[in-house]
Amino acid sequence: MKKKKTYLDYAATTPVDPRVLKVMLPYFSEKFGNTMSLHNFGQEAKNALEQARENVADLIGAKSDEIIFTSSATESNNLALKGITFANKDKGRHIIISSIEHSCIIQSAEWLTSHGFKVTRLPVDKYGFVNENELEKAIKRDTILISIMHANNEIGTIEPIKKIGEICKRKRIYFHTDAAQTFGKIFIDVNLMNIDLLTVSSHKMYGPKGAAALFIRKGIRIEPLIHGGGQEEGLRSSTINVPAIVGFGQACKISKKEMEKESKRLKRLRDKLIKGVLKKIPGSYLNGHPKKRLPNNANFRFDFIEGESIIIQLDLLGIAASTGSACSSAKLEPSHVLLEIGLKPYQAHGSLRLSLGKWTKEKEIDYVLKVLPKIIKKLRNISPFKKNE
Ligand SMILES: Cc1ncc(COP(=O)(O)O)c(C=O)c1O
Repeated sequence: MKKKKTYLDYAATTPVDPRVLKVMLPYFSEKFGNTMSLHNFGQEAKNALEQARENVADLIGAKSDEIIFTSSATESNNLALKGITFANKDKGRHIIISSIEHSCIIQSAEWLTSHGFKVTRLPVDKYGFVNENELEKAIKRDTILISIMHANNEIGTIEPIKKIGEICKRKRIYFHTDAAQTFGKIFIDVNLMNIDLLTVSSHKMYGPKGAAALFIRKGIRIEPLIHGGGQEEGLRSSTINVPAIVGFGQACKISKKEMEKESKRLKRLRDKLIKGVLKKIPGSYLNGHPKKRLPNNANFRFDFIEGESIIIQLDLLGIAASTGSACSSAKLEPSHVLLEIGLKPYQAHGSLRLSLGKWTKEKEIDYVLKVLPKIIKKLRNISPFKKNE
C-alpha cells in the first residue's frame, strides 16, 4: 500500500504554487535576459522585475522603490542590521533585539558586538511576548535600531508590532521587523505599523527559494553588504535572479487575493488540532499563546518524551513535522526560543511543531489526531524519564 504523505512543516518551507511556477517558466528559457542589458531581452527582464517589486510593495502598503530584492530572509536580516548600524555608527552604537529572534538576527547582532556595537537581548514572557514597558526601559541615548520579529517561527507568537513601532517613532529609533513567517499570511502595513525596515521571504509563502526582499522606508540610508555592478540601487549588487523574483511577485499577487479567506480556514484547522491534542493526550501542553499566534502554527510539548522521537514515529507514518526551526532541528541542543519562554531543557526537548498550509486538508488533521495519541503512549511506555519523574 502506498504510504499517505502529510506535510505539516510549512513554517520550514512551502511548495511552489503551480500558478507561480507557470509564470516563472518562460524566464528560464525564452525570457532569459539580464535586467542590466539595454536590448530588448534585458528590458523584458527589467519590466518583469519592476512588476514583481510592485507586487511585493502592494502586500505591505509600501512604494515599489522602497523594496530591495535579496536571496533570502537571512540575507535581508543581515542587510538590515549591519546596513543600518554601519550607516549610523556616528549617531549611536546600541541596538535592541528580542531573545527569541531567528538565529540570523541573533548571530548578526553577535557579530556587531565584535565591531564596537552593544546589543541588548530583551527577555520575553511565558508566551513569547516582548513587553513594551521593558522595551522602553532598555532604550539608551545611543540606541539606533530595534529589531523585533513580527511572529516567532517556532511558537507562532505574534508580537505587538504596532505598539513597538509607535515607541520607535516617538523615540526616533529605526524599527526593523523580521516578517518571514507573517508576510502573505496576515495583514501588514508598514505605515500603519510604523515599520522602517521589514524582511520578507518567498519560500514561506508558496514562492520559490532564492528570492526575498527588504523594505527600506524612503529616506533611510543603509550601507550595502555586497558591492559590485550596482543592481538594486547599489544596495545589493549581483545579477538579478529574474525567474525566482517573478515567482515571488506572483506569489504576492495570489496571497493578496486569497490571504484573508485562507487564514480563516487555517485558524479553524489549527484550533481543531490544538483542541484535539490537548484533549486526547494527557500531559500535553501548548507552547505559545492560544490566540495571538500564527494562523498555521501549533506547537506542543509532551511530558516524558523527546520531540525527535515523535518526529521519527510520525515520519514512519508519512507525517512531516519538526521540533522547532528547520535550522535548529539538525542540532540536538534545546531550542533557545523554548528556553527563553521559561521551559526547562527536558521540556524543550519534548516539543513538537506542526505547521499547516494551503494544501492541508481536514482529514489530515483527523489523521494526526488519530495516530499522535498512540505514538505518545508508545513512547512513554519506553521512556526512561517517566520512571525518574
Ligand atoms: C522568522 C524567520 N526569519 C528568518 C528565516 C530565514 O529565512 P531564509 O530561509 O529565507 O533565509 C526564517 C526561516 O525559517 C524565519 O522563520
